[in-house]
This record gives sequence, C-alpha cells and structure tokens, in this order.
Amino acid sequence: MTIYLDNAATSFPKPESVYQACDKALRNLGGSPGRGSHRMALDAGRQLLDTRETIADFFGIRNSSRVTFTANATEAINIALFGLLKPGDRVVTSSMEHNAVVRPLHALQARGIQVDKVTPGPDGRLHPASVRDAVMADLHATRMVVLSHASNVTGSIQPIEDLGPWCRKQGILLLVDAAQTAGFLPIDVETMGIDLLAAPGHKHLMGPPGCGLLYVREGLQPTPLIYGGNGADSASARPPEQLPERLESGTTNLPALAGLQAGIAFIKETGQRNMRRQKTELLSHLLEELRSLPDIHLYGPSDPTLLAGVLSCNLGAHDPAEIAYWLDTEHAICVRAGLHCAPDAHHTLGTFPRGALRVSPGYFSSHEDIQKLIKAFRTLLKSP
Ligand SMILES: Cc1ncc(COP(=O)(O)O)c(C=O)c1O
Repeated sequence: MTIYLDNAATSFPKPESVYQACDKALRNLGGSPGRGSHRMALDAGRQLLDTRETIADFFGIRNSSRVTFTANATEAINIALFGLLKPGDRVVTSSMEHNAVVRPLHALQARGIQVDKVTPGPDGRLHPASVRDAVMADLHATRMVVLSHASNVTGSIQPIEDLGPWCRKQGILLLVDAAQTAGFLPIDVETMGIDLLAAPGHKHLMGPPGCGLLYVREGLQPTPLIYGGNGADSASARPPEQLPERLESGTTNLPALAGLQAGIAFIKETGQRNMRRQKTELLSHLLEELRSLPDIHLYGPSDPTLLAGVLSCNLGAHDPAEIAYWLDTEHAICVRAGLHCAPDAHHTLGTFPRGALRVSPGYFSSHEDIQKLIKAFRTLLKSP
C-alpha cells in the first residue's frame, strides 16, 4: 500500500464527507451561481454563500463578503499583491518565502516596487524585531509586510500575532500566506491584525484541489487580476465595486468549494487542536528516530511543537531527489525532495541547489507509516 507523506503539497486522503459533498454538488447543484435567477442557479448561489460564511466564521471574519474564492493560495497572493501595490511602494518580506510570493514580487520589482527581505534565525524562524527594524528602515515608503505564517521547508511558524497589531499601528498592510497553517493553527484575522489572508483549500483545510481563498479587510479595494462576467452590474464594462464579485470573474468551482465546506466541518467536529496534536506526535516520533541515524542533517526548530506539520532533512551526502525516487519506487513512500518551490529558503538554509527531503504526515497518517520510512532510511544508511 502506498504511504503518502506529502501533505504539505496537498492533503490526502480527504475525509469521506468531503468526497460526498463534492459528488453531491456535482450531481445536484448544476446551475451557475450568480448567473440567472432560476431555481438551480439560486440553489448553487446558496451553497456558495454557505461556504463563504463557513470560511468567515472559521477565520474570525465579520463580513463574509470580504472572502473571495480563488483556485489556490497562489492566485490569492497574486490578487493581493498586483491589486494593491503601486510603483514607489516598498514591501518587507522574508527570505523564507514560497515562489507564490517570490515570483509576483520579483515581477512587481520591474514595475517600480521595492522589495526588502528579512533573514530568519538558523532554524528558519523570524525574529519580530528584525521585521520591525526592516520596516522602520524606511517606514514612509513601506506599504506592506508579506510573510508566510509557516515555512513549507522547515515548518517554522512565524510570529504573526506579534507583528500584525504592530503593523496596523504603523498603518502598514499585512498579507499572510497561510498555505501551511490554515486549518492547522488557529487564525483570527481581527486579533492577529491580518489585512489580507491567502489560503489554499486543499491542504490542512482538507478540501479538494482547485480551491483557495483571499480575505480582504474592509476598506481595501484591490484592482482585479482577472476581468469578466460574474452576474453583477452586467450592463457596465467596468468590474463591480463590491466584493466578492469584483474579484471573482468566471464560473466558480462549486463542487470543490462544497468539498471545502465539508473539510472545515470535519475539522470543527474533530477539533483543530486534536488534529494538530496527531500531526505533531507523528513528527515528534519521526524526529526522535531521525536523531538516532548517523550523519543526519535536520532543518528547522528542534521542538516539534514549533513545526507546522513539516520536517526537512538530508541524509549524509545522499542526493535527496535520489532518496525520494528510491522511497517511491522501492518502498511506495511518497515524500518531496528538492527545492519545494522555495529557492530563497534553501539559499537561507545553505541547502541550495540540492535542497532537502521533506516529510509531511497528515491527519490520516500513522505511526506505522513513520516506522516504515525509518526502516527504509536504515536500509539505505546500512544502520542497524
Ligand atoms: C508556503 C506556501 N505558499 C504558497 C503555496 C501555494 O499554494 P497553492 O498550491 O495552493 O497555490 C504553497 C504550496 O505548497 C506553500 O507551501
């Protein structure tokens, strides 16, 4: 049987209720939400509103119309960055970001946006003071702080609670890439001072691929990334002023969003804290075993409770890509090797260009899965 330990890329399997919700939506909600006023379009619209409200409630968002549906976290981040930054703006970010942040910011530099990157400590964790210092180096020009809530390479959780209220006091926007934390850590946009929250639906939130979200704080009016029909203000050639329609053009992925709603319901029933404990216990087990292996290089915090479900390592001089291939072909174990779409992070850790081997158990993974992985490592290293 295949052992899937790549939940940081996308979670698998999904709860049974998620499969059922997608199936039910695809079979029964055939209309296009917002298009037309016939019963099937209205039923579809109701499902969409339900999902929006479920998400708003989950992240402490007061007004669900500030939740925009996207295809993934990448699209959400692109809408926030391209929609709000103007030439002359300065952005402070970190050297641990995923390409979902690195690449749009790189493209925006060519349009006159200044980007400055803060370096974390050796375990990948940012010190809030270093972010504050970077902002204060040119407070006047700084428009936005952009940070991942947790690194997808080291699993290091960043001090968003600390930085959010401070950024708000300085009048600076905070965009949080919650790709590795939404559904894993509690997130409340109000108390954490988050102005823009980008999240995938398909990782810890347990939804299917093809869904994500962007929360936009009241008072912000991003320029759309995509223009087109959405059923609102159809007579005008301009996009509607109101959210979410302004940022949602084209037909919505309703079955995926129905699945996402079921995913969040599953998390609430099971308890987000229980799910986190389960994933952390698996990582703790893995860490303990890895530490007993010869010539092992571990990246990120040494305390498993400081990890967001992800652990990266290297085994001596072995190429991580070759190990991942060997694990897959010889042991049916799926892990991710290489740069994890985060070359900056690997430069920071000193693991570029080879990268590392990343293991990310999910809620449905077991201690037996971890044991089998360790057994395979021992065979490779010829360690008893
Ligand atoms: C930290 C981080 N940001 C952004 C993304 C992009 O997420 P998506 O694939 O949903 O666009 C990922 C995906 O792995 C990620 O780990």
